[in-house]
Amino acid sequence: MRIDILSVMPELLRSPLEHSIMKRAQDKGLLEVHLHNLRDYGLGKNKQLDDYQFGGGAGMLMRLEPVVNCIEKLQAERTYDEIIYMTPDGQRLNQQICNRFSMKENIMILCGHYKGIDERIREHFITAEISIGDYVLSGGELPAAVLVDSIGRLLPGVLNDETSALFDSFQDNLLAPPIYTRPAEFRGWKVPDVLLSGNFPEIEKWRYEESLKRTQERRPDLLEGED
Ligand code: ADE
Repeated sequence: MRIDILSVMPELLRSPLEHSIMKRAQDKGLLEVHLHNLRDYGLGKNKQLDDYQFGGGAGMLMRLEPVVNCIEKLQAERTYDEIIYMTPDGQRLNQQICNRFSMKENIMILCGHYKGIDERIREHFITAEISIGDYVLSGGELPAAVLVDSIGRLLPGVLNDETSALFDSFQDNLLAPPIYTRPAEFRGWKVPDVLLSGNFPEIEKWRYEESLKRTQERRPDLLEGED
């Protein structure tokens, strides 16, 4: 999969992409991420990117031309399955959306900045608008890093244990069950006997029941099929 990210501050994205599982995905050639600095497409000698809102109102907006020029330059090189705009008023990200995006070939992600982008970019280029939660961050870079990580780890071959993403919380609309490692007892705090029993059908049953219990207690909305 190839992901192109358009940003006025691409440096904010480097570290999350250069470590851990995202690094491994790229080293293995399973994921290619290209960062594009919108400043390179800025207008005039000051490389201007922002401007005042028509009709008045606080805050500057990202102008249309630099974004359009960057998008169209990339579109001339390949076809994009999705052009995603990171915005707090987008669809709230969930595991189903991550699964769907992870099956695409080429994705472009536009990070908003300032007060947002000129609406005409949304109308004419954007195919999906994604929020990572009901709070406002200072730009779309951290949300884009969240999105890339959540998609990248789902690509076949990225995780060592192929099955592990399947058992993540949310894959079945259930939260993951409690997990334990050694020692089996610490300060008298014991690991549940069933996990030490070697009885795998019983272990599976216990895990399922614990998942269900945890979901009922913490996120009953998931059981009602909501996101
Ligand atoms: N940009 C600013 N806040 C955001 C959020 N919550 N989700 C996605 N993009 C954003």
